[in-house]
Amino acid sequence: MAGSLREPSFNVSASTSCDTDDEGVRGTCEDASMCKRFAVSLGYWHDPYIQHFVRLSKERKAPEINRGYFARVHGVGQLVKAFLQKTECCCQVLNLGAGMDTTFWKLKDEGLLPSKYFEVDFPMIVTRKLHNIKCKPVLLNPIVELHSEDTLQMDGHMLDSKRYAIVGADLRDLSELEEKLKKCNMNTQLPTLLITECVLVYMTPEQSANLLKWAARSFDTAMFINYEQVNMGDRFGQIMIENLRRRQCDLAGVETCKSLESQKERLLASGWETASAVDMMELYSRLPRAEVSRIEALEFLDEMELLEQLMQHYCLCWATKGGGELGLKEVTY
Ligand SMILES: C[S@@+](CC[C@H](N)C(=O)[O-])C[C@H]1O[C@@H](n2cnc3c(N)ncnc32)[C@H](O)[C@@H]1O
Repeated sequence: MAGSLREPSFNVSASTSCDTDDEGVRGTCEDASMCKRFAVSLGYWHDPYIQHFVRLSKERKAPEINRGYFARVHGVGQLVKAFLQKTECCCQVLNLGAGMDTTFWKLKDEGLLPSKYFEVDFPMIVTRKLHNIKCKPVLLNPIVELHSEDTLQMDGHMLDSKRYAIVGADLRDLSELEEKLKKCNMNTQLPTLLITECVLVYMTPEQSANLLKWAARSFDTAMFINYEQVNMGDRFGQIMIENLRRRQCDLAGVETCKSLESQKERLLASGWETASAVDMMELYSRLPRAEVSRIEALEFLDEMELLEQLMQHYCLCWATKGGGELGLKEVTY
């Protein structure tokens, strides 16, 4: 059953070239967005935008998967909002490996937009996202409305506007990443929130540490939110790894996903001043009771064991640097 508790690609080729490795990783975007769309269609949370990026899966997703995604979206969302509140939205957000994430549009609706919201993903994913943005007024209009100048900067792999930018770049190539973000007016003086939701695990420990070090070095006041696997050394974790490998998707960074301690250690060793981590079972147990009752009534689940195992194999981590005067160090789930 652990086979369905991952973010695999659906159509990956069997070749073993480097590009094919990336194809497996890029395929995880489809899976994450389809799972989110499915959970949204059942009423787990409200997101009127995800339907414009991905089709509705014909296959039902298991209730454990839907509850897992609910906790993930809730957990990341709470930390994002805490950062926006502490900085009074006078900040920027960099969503790295954003896939089809819809946070920008949801924050706009809630009146919680940062000064600028950036998204990064592989150029092929960005091209697909941009196609949807350009074709669907419900996605394009909010960007255009916020943009005071005449023309939007846009090509196949990037869009830059006053409050939203999306760039195609490989997160393992930091000079390219920095150059492209700077072209879109990334401001290293602003308090900055960086988000990686199920992304670092696809990079080697060295590559993810380099990204984390670059982030800690680049901004004086910053917070990093990372959601991904944890406790991967046990049997359940091994099954998750094997299932993904069969789909040409290697969890190259799984070594850092051994424990909450190894997750925190990586952050602290990369120049972050505080680091916290919680597994998703713990997070689930701290969710507001009314919300838990509401979502648990959506689908029947008589056996909690699999849900607990799943939740124990994912975690939410966050780290801060500077920002003592803003109260960033006190941000907690
Ligand atoms: C599992 S998906 C998650 C997408 C999104 N963060 C979410 O939670 O819905 C992982 C995403 O990270 C992107 N990604 C992984 N490695 C990357 C890299 N080296 N450079 C750019 N994007 C990367 C993939 O293309 C994919 O869109």
